[in-house]
Amino acid sequence: MKPQSARAIANRVRVLFVSSEIYPLAKTGGLADVCGALPLALARDGDVDMLLMLPGYDSAIAAVGDATEIAVLPNLPGGPARLLIGMMPGSDIEVVLLDQPSSFRRPGGLYIDEDGREWADNAIRFAALAHAVVEMAMGRVLPNWRADIVHCNDWHTGLVPVLIAAQPGHRPRTIMTLHNLAFQGLFPPCMLPQLDLPRGCFSVEGVEYFGQISFLKGGINFADKLTTVSPSYACEIVTPEFGMGLEGVLARRQTDLIGIMNGIDEMLWNPAEDPMIDCSYSADDIADKARCKAVLQREWGLAEDPTAPLFVFAARLESQKMADTLLELIPDLMERPQVQVAITGKGAIPLQDGFAAWPARAPGRIAVRIGYRENWAHQLMAGGDMLIHGARFEPCGLTPIYAMRYGTVPIVRAVGGLRDSVTAVGATPIAGGKASGFQFDEANAVGMLDAIDTALEFYARPDSWRQLQRNGMTRDFSWRGPAAQYRRLYEELAPEAA
Ligand code: ADP
Ligand code: GLC
Repeated sequence: MKPQSARAIANRVRVLFVSSEIYPLAKTGGLADVCGALPLALARDGDVDMLLMLPGYDSAIAAVGDATEIAVLPNLPGGPARLLIGMMPGSDIEVVLLDQPSSFRRPGGLYIDEDGREWADNAIRFAALAHAVVEMAMGRVLPNWRADIVHCNDWHTGLVPVLIAAQPGHRPRTIMTLHNLAFQGLFPPCMLPQLDLPRGCFSVEGVEYFGQISFLKGGINFADKLTTVSPSYACEIVTPEFGMGLEGVLARRQTDLIGIMNGIDEMLWNPAEDPMIDCSYSADDIADKARCKAVLQREWGLAEDPTAPLFVFAARLESQKMADTLLELIPDLMERPQVQVAITGKGAIPLQDGFAAWPARAPGRIAVRIGYRENWAHQLMAGGDMLIHGARFEPCGLTPIYAMRYGTVPIVRAVGGLRDSVTAVGATPIAGGKASGFQFDEANAVGMLDAIDTALEFYARPDSWRQLQRNGMTRDFSWRGPAAQYRRLYEELAPEAA
């Protein structure tokens, strides 16, 4: 472990980066991917003194392994807790875990129990995280280390800016990154006494949202700067169509809001060196992608046919991802000659059941795996020909970017970050241009099916198809550019430290 004194000497901006999910410690979606990769890129390329912090879930404590106790916090919401420090696996970045076993070490999901119900004490669990973050950030835990900036992510960390704004004297600056406005951390006001919030913050300018407590609104109101995960989503969320009720609050803060496109971890998502897939290939030598397709077909019970167009889907089975529309379209897809579909996902029970019934109805043509396994997502990206990724809204959408990197051409709704990441066939040429996928405008079955049919036409033209794959595979989706933008934001907020 890095000696803590080294932190004190280093003349670098000190950032406490807080999230409920950080890959590979804890993950339910893209939030974890971003929070696992961005801080590492900032530390490496941006020369930032980065310290990560997240709840001490069982998975996180196991992944960190050898952690040391650095503090006991006796009076957090939810009871006493310890702070542990250890290393992020495979890096030289330290991570602090909030070890409050009664809150975070339970069977079930990060936010829901084994029956899919939200944990009744979610407000208390994440209020505990926020209070612990303040202790770390204010320099009351590690000798010689206090944060210049606290970088928060999504509603789970929304109370951090609220609490930090109320600290007397010199305080760190705060950034709130919005990954998804659909999740706001809304709780009944009767929980207020248990959260230990500053007096007067249950107001319209604070955490109050139509009579409820909103963690996310608190974060939006009190953070010094707001970011979101694509330029297009940053424009969308100040409108009623996409603001999820927070458009007014966001519009008032528009001068402090910027959209920074997510990058991807190019080591983890790299078809040339991916231990989770059965072959390796690259933009210059894509031939072996066909082997991945054959393995996928064989292992997932599809007919082993190299010429069959193979559509894949890997996402939360939720309305956001238009999973309901895809289910509705399966009979149409089965009418198209040779078409195969491989799906993995987890989420709404009716959707899970709806998809799970299909392999028996169309054997050899549809494969469905309900569940959440990292390697399944990688196998689909590698073995598929096309990714279907509908979206009613999409802050960024990492899955289509992964697909492009693996030469699997995405079919996406033209919304949010998907507008920024997928360059549409039709908008620019394929050969000599940048087109890398297909877009549709309307969030309905007709729009999605039209785009699928267009994609099938192009799939039948191998030269165009190869170029489409190449365009996606060679585009720079690394964290270098985005990390530089975050770094500039840090400098702007804490010029004396940078
Ligand atoms: P979101 O964060 O809205 O879920 P993203 O596309 O940005 O959407 O990120 C989703 C991440 O979660 C990707 O890493 C994707 O591979 C992963 N993922 C989603 N569903 C599954 C699943 N059922 N099994 C494995 N990984 C999944
Ligand atoms: C969210 C969004 C997704 C985004 C991810 C990472 O979960 O739904 O669009 O890619 O966060 O920022």
